[in-house]
Amino acid sequence: MSLRASVVTASMVLMGAPAFGAGPAVSWILFPEPASSQSAAAQAGKVDFLHACAVCHAAQADRPGTMSLQFKYAGRLPAALEQRTDLTPEMVTYYVRHGIAMMPSFRKTELSDAQVAAIAAYLSRKGK
Ligand code: HEC
Repeated sequence: MSLRASVVTASMVLMGAPAFGAGPAVSWILFPEPASSQSAAAQAGKVDFLHACAVCHAAQADRPGTMSLQFKYAGRLPAALEQRTDLTPEMVTYYVRHGIAMMPSFRKTELSDAQVAAIAAYLSRKGK
């Protein structure tokens, strides 16, 4: 089962009703953070980040993206993207559309411009 499918299933169990189209509410239930601290785009971006990026960039030592950035920055910047305060939306969008080293580029059929913008808002939220 995909992450997205399990998110929807979990929300249906929690809400006791079909929850299709209830995106922000779903992410709030599974990943509570004060709503005022994040834009709606950033909250949606967190779900897409978990779906498309966390397999390589989660804050775990065995993830290839996290390992590569640990090696690249040697502790000068956090190895986990979600902990960075220096990322800009432009930088995130560039890497997602172009890829780097073993990171694949993502086509618009895989991640829409709106999804990439949401992920970029999420990963740059600490830099404001
Ligand atoms: C298959 C694994 C993989 C996936 C999936 C992946 N990445 Fe990466 N990513 C990497 C690796 C490895 C690097 C580091 C490359 C290097 O050595 O510079 C990287 C680098 C980056 C960087 C550059 C960070 C820096 O400071 O140099 C950004 C930003 C980034 N990824 C964002 C994302 C986002 C957003 C997604 C999801 C849409 C994603 N990545 C999905 C493996 C992955």
